[in-house]
Parts: sequence; C-alpha cells; structure tokens
Amino acid sequence: MPTERAAANARAGAYLEVDLAAVRENYSRLSARLGRAECAAVVKADAYGLGVAQVAPALWAAGARRFFVALPDEAIALRKVLPTAQVYVLGGLFGGAERDYLAHGICPVLNSLAEIDAWRALPPAERPPAAIHFDSGLSRLGLPANEARRLIEEPSRLKGIEIGCLISHLACADEQEHPLNSRQRQAFSEFCRRFPHLRRSFANSSGIFLGPDYHFDIARPGVALYGGNPTPGRENPMTSCIRLRSRILQVRDIARGESVGYGATFTATRPTRIATLAMGYADGYSRYLSNIGKLWLADYCAPIVGRISMDLITLDVSELPADISMPGALVDLIGDRETVDDLAERAGTIPYEVLTSLGGRFHRTYKEA
Ligand SMILES: Cc1ncc(COP(=O)(O)O)c(C=O)c1O
Repeated sequence: MPTERAAANARAGAYLEVDLAAVRENYSRLSARLGRAECAAVVKADAYGLGVAQVAPALWAAGARRFFVALPDEAIALRKVLPTAQVYVLGGLFGGAERDYLAHGICPVLNSLAEIDAWRALPPAERPPAAIHFDSGLSRLGLPANEARRLIEEPSRLKGIEIGCLISHLACADEQEHPLNSRQRQAFSEFCRRFPHLRRSFANSSGIFLGPDYHFDIARPGVALYGGNPTPGRENPMTSCIRLRSRILQVRDIARGESVGYGATFTATRPTRIATLAMGYADGYSRYLSNIGKLWLADYCAPIVGRISMDLITLDVSELPADISMPGALVDLIGDRETVDDLAERAGTIPYEVLTSLGGRFHRTYKEA
C-alpha cells in the first residue's frame, strides 16, 4: 500500500525541493561576514516563496532572532511558528490594524510622523518595540527629510516608545559603484547621529557586500539567504537552496512543417521529437520564456519550443537519447545547471521575482541536512 505521501508524489506534475541546510548555511555565511553586527532575516512573501513555516524555524536554528515581513498577516502567521522572535512589519502600522500588533506582540516599522503619533497613543504597557524608518533616498516608505527634521527638533514625539532600531533601505545596493549608495549611507548616518543610543539597520543582502561601512548594527538580508546572488556580475557567494523539476507527460514525433502550441509560434524544420511537461505559467514559469527557455534532463539541454501554456511546456528533445526523454522522466527547471539567477536573466527579470512567483501546485519537500 503506498503511503499518502507517496501517492501525492505520484500525482504531482512538478517537484520543489527546498534545502533548509543551505538556507542555514547562507545565514551563517552572512553572519560571519557581518562580524559584530547582527544578521536579521527578511521572510516576507512566504520567505520569498520558499515557505515561511519551514524556512523561519531553520533561520531561527541558525541564530536569527529578528525577522522582517511586509504585512501584518504575514507577521501573525510567523508569530505562530516563532513565538519568541522579534517580528517587524515593514509596511508600517496599517491604520485600523494597531490592536493586532498589540495582541500578537508584533513590532511595526513606523514610516511617518503620523504613524509614530498613532503608536504613541496606544497603551504603553502593551506596546512591543517599534522601528523608525528614515527614507534616505528610495522615496518609497519611511520618514521623508522634512518629517525626519521635525522628529529631530521634537524628540519628545518618541517619548515612551521603545525603539528596537532605526532603519533605512538602499536603492542601488546591487550596483557597487552607484553614487547613491554612499549618499544614502551618509544621510542615514547623519539621521542616526541624532539618536546615538539607538541601534541602526541599513544593509540588505547586496548592502552587506558593499563593505563594513554599510553594516551598522543590524543587517536585513532576504534574497541571499535563499541563494540569490547579492553580487550580480560576480561569482555568487551564496549556496543555491532550491531544485525545481517537472515530469514529462507525453512524447511525440512531429514532421517537418508541423507546428507546436498556441499561436503556432514554432514550426519544425525537420522531424522533431516533442516532450510535454506538467508545468506552465500557472506554476510561476514565465510565459516570456516561450521559445527562449532551456531545461535540463540529466546532462542534456533541451530548448523550449512553442508557447508556454498555463499547465504545459513543450520541449524539443530530438537530440536526447530516447530512454532519457520518456514519459515520467523528470526535467530540471531550476537547479545546479540553471540557477535562479540564470533563469531570471534569461526571463528578463530578477531572482526575487522568480522565487516569489513559485507556484502553489508543486509537491514540496524540505531537506534538513
Ligand atoms: C526594507 C527592506 N529591507 C530588506 C529587504 C531585503 O532585501 P534583499 O532581499 O535584497 O536582501 C527588503 C526587500 O525587498 C526590504 O524591502
């Protein structure tokens, strides 16, 4: 009798393996690079698509104690998994949700004077620590320069608020030579100098690799924990954490002149063997890769031909030995041969989007060691 897990395995069209040991290793590597600075962990968007319920405990086991998410609901979910972690919501106070922060012991990242005032109005005894976000040049969230000046002039606005850290976020950290990096660092340093007793958090993954001047007291890496390259254009110092495979459903031979897929965008110029995979854009594999993507079967590379559809991808496997490209065989979409960064580059996007687009239909397994 097959177990339920084996049966689910047999029913799956695609398989996502998440290597939690690699996530832990990446955390330790970043932590070592940071020296005395603390390494927090950004686990928003379901830990960048890898699964926060599994990834956050792995990061906790590796030593992470401070976590950042985007939304209050993400924080509430994380709180259930890590009851004693410090959990910050980057999106701010979400007017109307303040009581949830108190009830679940969630720390808001206060992004404006109005949010600081609203937080101060809540019962002090129930308030967890908060972060104050200073906008040093991203023009997205956080106190803009005029509000920062007012806060410096009126420090009493922070009276009674326990501040976990001051934060700011880099716009161009993945471009080492970008002049905005040092301008933002300087602006953040000047702001923090007015609050000398408070801890400072500045660097994301790439920021950590800009050097110790960018480390301050707490770093907030996300993508590097999950194997994305924080130093684009240079060798990836992180370990890849996922392997995504899909199974071949059918193989057929088509004649010269026959077309493949919606829109007939590929026409065979010779007798061609087509393998059809149980994976499509509904699983987060970008439709842009139609007639562009390349997948791997063992040591063989096979090009995607025709349009990627919702649930299916068609491959030209004419050059592969028939016993390798058979129904049931597993094809690698992300792994050692085609990393998340390779795939992102091919698809004209960034590893963040590849990871956070990973679909919900995969059979997922988590490797612990
Ligand atoms: C405010 C903030 N801090 C840190 C991070 C983590 O960035 P990364 O994934 O580049 O390390 C993000 C991610 O978008 C963020 O928005």
